[in-house]
Amino acid sequence: MKVVTIQGSPRANGNTAAVLEKFEKALGDGHEVERIDLQKLNVGGCLACYACAQNLSEPGCVQMDDAQSVIASILEADAVVYATPLYMWTFPAQIKALLDRHLCFVKGYTTPEYTSLLKDKPVALLVTCGGPVEENADLIEEGFSRLAKYGLLKHAGNYVVPGCTTPDQLGDAADAAVEQMKAALVGA
Ligand SMILES: Cc1cc2nc3c(=O)[nH]c(=O)nc-3n(C[C@H](O)[C@H](O)[C@H](O)COP(=O)(O)O)c2cc1C
Repeated sequence: MKVVTIQGSPRANGNTAAVLEKFEKALGDGHEVERIDLQKLNVGGCLACYACAQNLSEPGCVQMDDAQSVIASILEADAVVYATPLYMWTFPAQIKALLDRHLCFVKGYTTPEYTSLLKDKPVALLVTCGGPVEENADLIEEGFSRLAKYGLLKHAGNYVVPGCTTPDQLGDAADAAVEQMKAALVGA
């Protein structure tokens, strides 16, 4: 399988990157990985022009920034991991901009022709945070679950690594999240 992994933290070598690297290593040689480091890219927020809604067969986003290549990679992927730190109970601005741009994948929402260019594509959310899961990471999990439903994706789960301090002190929770996500996304 070709697995696209999106690293959404502004920190190139922080907790999120470290857990994602563990996942990529755990995938082994049987899978191709394309890592997208969002902090290296220029991805603007959705302009709400709805030009994409006029194109039913392609994404059709008219904002010509680095999101174009990310959109193409997501389309080609067999599975996608969205990895992010938790900022103020939700997504950091950088990856939120990309998620908003997912509007272009969904076609005919609220009409009988409602479909998605990503229909049935397996996706998973990986979150690192300093605090606990409860009353902290619940909102980002709910937000991603709703996005997956809206995009008609195959939601392979949300995986939260709580209590993160520094990348060199990731504990058992990180390994458990990696193993569970791998099993759900590409099989054991
Ligand atoms: C602006 C900002 C907001 C944060 N908000 C939260 C939060 O709401 N809950 C939480 O548990 N941790 C929060 N944190 C901590 C990060 O989620 C945590 O350190 C994460 O593992 C950082 O990942 P990174 O090293 O990949 O950037 C916040 C950190 C920053 C910089």
